[in-house]
Amino acid sequence: MKIVEDWIWQEFDELDSTNNQALAWSKVAVSGQRCVITAKKQTSGRGRRGRQWIGLEGNLFMSLVFEAAPCDLSKFVFISSLSLLNTINQVKKGKAIEVQLKWPNDVLLNGAKVSGILLEKGEGDFLISGIGVNIAYAPEAKDLIYPATALSAVGIKTDCHAFLKEFLCQWNKLLDLWHNQGFQAVLDIWLKSAKSLGEEIVVKNENKTIKGKFVGVDENGALLLLQGENVIKILAGDVFFNEE
Ligand code: BTN
Repeated sequence: MKIVEDWIWQEFDELDSTNNQALAWSKVAVSGQRCVITAKKQTSGRGRRGRQWIGLEGNLFMSLVFEAAPCDLSKFVFISSLSLLNTINQVKKGKAIEVQLKWPNDVLLNGAKVSGILLEKGEGDFLISGIGVNIAYAPEAKDLIYPATALSAVGIKTDCHAFLKEFLCQWNKLLDLWHNQGFQAVLDIWLKSAKSLGEEIVVKNENKTIKGKFVGVDENGALLLLQGENVIKILAGDVFFNEE
């Protein structure tokens, strides 16, 4: 079924992972098609860096499958997180809730994580953006490395379907911006909502802890940290803020 413009929507009651289903879809898709796959419940959701993503019914689990140059994979992290932020800003309807972005791909509500994004390669030129949004419940798990929240926990009333539709509209708008004005235009907007820009942060990467002043992201999405007089680029890691 079509949902927004030419997005095909496939909804499942239960999947192991919407990203697995998205990969399967990319193997049979015809060039020019794009699809969003959702599941009401996910039994083996994957997170970044080998972590699991809890699949409680009531939350949104979706994977977008679309054609793009594989070298642009990291750029879609920014398209995905900024689309989420814009969607939340729409559905919060003027409520005084702080919505911020945490490099590379988290969206924070009043400082706690409300969503996660996992970009993967599909078949051929298809890319997959797998996104979990805590609409109704914040998962409780001892091994969460970052405090979690949900839209409902801060008083935002929406449902998975309404959120999905708004999200796809926001995604389409950002793709237009990228194509009309270049990717820097997207990054400039992303940076306006980035938490702790210009402040000291900590990045944990494998077994290294790197400290520095968060001064921006480069055109490929690498985090730029100022250490003394040098700006270093960080390609992967978990960011922590001073208060944590
Ligand atoms: C993260 O670690 O923050 C990323 C989490 C990504 C979870 C989503 S839920 C929908 C899609 N299917 C998966 O198996 N993972 C992603």
